[in-house]
Amino acid sequence: MRTIKDIDIKDKTVLVRADFNVPIFDGRVESDLRIRAVVPTLELLREHGAKKIIIISHLGRPKGWDEELSLAPVAEVLDELVGKVRFVPEVYGIGVEEAVATMGTGEILVLENLRFFPGEEKNSREFAEKIVQATGAEIFVQDGFAVLHRAHASTAAITELLPSYAGLLVEKEVLNFEKVLEAPARPLVVVIGGAKVEDKAPLIEKFLGLADKIVVGGKIAADGYEAESDKIYVAEDFDETRAGRRMDIGPVATSKIADLIKDAKTVIWNGLLGKAEDPAYATASTIVAEVMGEKTGAETVICGGDTTGFVENLMLYHPELEYSLISTGGGASLEFLLGKELPGLVPLFIS
Ligand code: 3PG
Repeated sequence: MRTIKDIDIKDKTVLVRADFNVPIFDGRVESDLRIRAVVPTLELLREHGAKKIIIISHLGRPKGWDEELSLAPVAEVLDELVGKVRFVPEVYGIGVEEAVATMGTGEILVLENLRFFPGEEKNSREFAEKIVQATGAEIFVQDGFAVLHRAHASTAAITELLPSYAGLLVEKEVLNFEKVLEAPARPLVVVIGGAKVEDKAPLIEKFLGLADKIVVGGKIAADGYEAESDKIYVAEDFDETRAGRRMDIGPVATSKIADLIKDAKTVIWNGLLGKAEDPAYATASTIVAEVMGEKTGAETVICGGDTTGFVENLMLYHPELEYSLISTGGGASLEFLLGKELPGLVPLFIS
């Protein structure tokens, strides 16, 4: 993979694709995981003397221009993290040209939500050309791991216009996922939870041939998932409401899973084990997160939006917890784990 560590960035204008698709409520960013995740790339670009850094991203799934999905609040959070960040409510045209012309060295410009324009999701070369022309970009850096599974103008078409490199986040996520998929330290334990069996069945199938143990909890287990192999352990007891609704996996299953994790050398976790948004039913997920986060010398990977969000929250109160990777990818991390080709990643490989 070509990465920004391989090239001379000095005095160059660099266009960075980030995935700033973060939860926003009332104009406030609710989780800054995906914003913090690109900071190492931005710092490296500055340290290596990039002249101008321009960031593009999408946010949500707008149908046309939608102020509620503006990237302005994201730019504010980024400014608090790295300083010297400006926002321009456009993606190309005179407004962007003027903003770029007045940028100082190392300054960062965040452009507006790419998905306000139909050309983005249509993977339009013309749309990508307009961005390149307005920004004067000389190099493209792909650091939006979470959007690599989309063939859009800012992930695919743009790579035909500019020399393209992976940023540090994309490199880190790809290397960690490759490590656990290609040469996992064993035992490899995969913990799968979540709500929809149809979403998780391919993952279980995939890891049947690779993992030493797969454990299944969450609503899938509560709904009666039946293991087709003795490699799979399905939670056997549940924490229930008075009316008998299964809300979390129970103490027997939780303690068995915790023991499996303690003995593992690689652990991948995708999907909450109970209805963890209610603290009363977050016990199993909390214990699994703690046992994984306290492990030393093991590879621990957390993926899936709900799971990473849960772990991030827990880490606010338990900053001592550590993981090899808290993936920023939702759909992208699942597709990577399933071995699918990611359209945004392919152009970054040396052909
Ligand atoms: C994500 O949140 O998974 C990515 O940002 C991609 O978003 P999308 O599913 O709307 O394409």
